[in-house]
Amino acid sequence: MDTSHLLNLREFEPLARGKLSQMIFDYYASGANDDVTLRENEAAYQRIFMRPRMMAGNAARSMNVSIFGQPMNAPILIAPMAYMKMAHPDGEAAVARAAAARSLNMIVSTSATMSVDEIAAAVPEGSRWFQLYLYKDRAAARDLVGLVGAVGYQAIVLTVDRTYLGRREPDIRNNFGLPPPLEVKNLPPDATRDGLAAYVSPLFEDNLRWSDVEWLKSITSLPVLVKGVLRGDDARLAIAHGADGVIVSNHGGRQLDTAIPAIDALPEIVQAVGDEAEILVDGGIRRGTDVMKALARGAKAVLLGRPVLWGLALEGEVGVGRVLDLLLQELDLALALNGCRSIEDVTPDLLAGYMPVRESIGY
Ligand code: FNR
Repeated sequence: MDTSHLLNLREFEPLARGKLSQMIFDYYASGANDDVTLRENEAAYQRIFMRPRMMAGNAARSMNVSIFGQPMNAPILIAPMAYMKMAHPDGEAAVARAAAARSLNMIVSTSATMSVDEIAAAVPEGSRWFQLYLYKDRAAARDLVGLVGAVGYQAIVLTVDRTYLGRREPDIRNNFGLPPPLEVKNLPPDATRDGLAAYVSPLFEDNLRWSDVEWLKSITSLPVLVKGVLRGDDARLAIAHGADGVIVSNHGGRQLDTAIPAIDALPEIVQAVGDEAEILVDGGIRRGTDVMKALARGAKAVLLGRPVLWGLALEGEVGVGRVLDLLLQELDLALALNGCRSIEDVTPDLLAGYMPVRESIGY
């Protein structure tokens, strides 16, 4: 379906709903329990207001950032999401290509429906990180992390908020299972890769400990980020055990319902971490102004989730590209209207609630 007439990210979801089966749409869209966190992730951004700076002479702008020394076109990465071939036969490769074409970075999920080397072959190095669900079988996990490094992924994201699957009632109602012939491709050699087993994933560690971060650091030279942190003390523990970054996230509202909206958890974590590690945030980002607000609250970058799946479902790589282009255009306009020339200019004083100290701003 042609998506060129769509004006913003929110317009993709209802159209994708019409195109996907109920089971697949529900799997992508749903949150846990009453969807409170799912809704509030987005709503929380709409409760934050900006105090834009005028007359800043910012006709020329750049959105470039660098994370772990890796240059990116904008502070936006694609969140790791499972089972992309359910949305479109080109699956993860289409998303990787759309991101790479814009010098953006995709985080490939352990639960991908293409293997890490197939996805690697689709795009150049420098555009991919890998998200790890730690296997109980540590030898198999070590092999996977080794493979990921060998084929040019540039960071490992360890997701820690899915030791148990959140209760997503639509999936229970639909008896969700990965539809054949699709398979989860990055599991240990003898694992069951399809159907309900792939969803429930009994292979993943349900007894994660902070020492697992240390173990992961000991088997890879890549930067390690811990995804799913919502508290300052946990962020400190992540760093104490060797993490190079944290991703503030409630898994898009799919795990613990009524968990704090990610953007509201961010300030505590920024304060706890300072500049000792990179801080990213995801959940509910749908507008360029949302990206601005996350940056102004101290995030280095954001991850974009579901809208990518809607773009993929509607028009494959082109649809994902359309989603990304819209968000990039909106972020550029948000920079322009806030008086920013670059991402470095996105500072906390751009948000309402900031109390300027008279001398510091020269009036
Ligand atoms: C996810 N998410 C996720 N996270 C992760 O670490 N590994 C994974 O395999 C998945 N799979 C997954 C599938 C689907 C369908 C969704 C919607 C989400 C969570 C994801 O990385 C991210 O945290 C949220 O999706 C971000 O929220 P938004 O942008 O979707 O609101």
